[in-house]
Amino acid sequence: MTPSHIAFIMDGNGRWAEHRHLPRKYGHKMGTKTLDLVVNLAMKYEVKTVTFYAFSTENWTRPKSEIDYLFQIFRRFLSEIDKYRDKNVRLRFIGNLAKFPADIVDSCEKMVSETAKNDGLNVVIALNYGSWEEITTAVNSLLASGKTSVTKDDVVSALYTHDIDFPDLVVRTGGEVRLSNFLLLQSAYSEFIFTDLLWPDFDEKAFVSVLDEYASRVRKYGGLKS
Ligand code: FPP
Repeated sequence: MTPSHIAFIMDGNGRWAEHRHLPRKYGHKMGTKTLDLVVNLAMKYEVKTVTFYAFSTENWTRPKSEIDYLFQIFRRFLSEIDKYRDKNVRLRFIGNLAKFPADIVDSCEKMVSETAKNDGLNVVIALNYGSWEEITTAVNSLLASGKTSVTKDDVVSALYTHDIDFPDLVVRTGGEVRLSNFLLLQSAYSEFIFTDLLWPDFDEKAFVSVLDEYASRVRKYGGLKS
């Protein structure tokens, strides 16, 4: 079966550039091309939703020059509304956007509203996202609404992902085997694939092999194999 929702941890951009004696930012530039490729592959192989971890709550500790370059990349991505509208892609963002420059926040809102009626591929970009921040924000909003006890549905509805299905599969490139504060609750029963490929090297062959590997997994959700 094809996974309906794949979430990507796009790791290895910096090393891809360093291996070529290029500045790290060049790796992010190439990583942007991979994101674009994966969006097209998701459409080709009929995946319904793809989520990309583009900036974590921990990424603020990177040098300002790298952060500024990532902002530049996000601005360019956000300026391409027509490209996504024409592909019938619906864009959404998860994370605490308020910490980003106002023009980026405005462009995110514009992209969301201008693609809201599209019913093709869902593309979700995690910006200033971290599960601990998400859960803390959710708990505070539930408390502010006057609740003194909550159900699982209350928690789900207070998460940034309230209107997005949980990922069937989480893929991390770059050789590290950890989740790095990404979709911790939402991936409770996801399948995981960790690949040594660096994100800029992730291509159609790698995408297909991830789909094949997922198809071979048996999901039991804590029950018995059916
Ligand atoms: C992790 O690799 C990657 C990031 C922190 C940035 C990911 C962002 C992009 C791929 C840009 C595209 C995003 C959009 C929304 C257009 P790393 O730099 O930590 O790699 P390293 O572990 O090799 O140093």
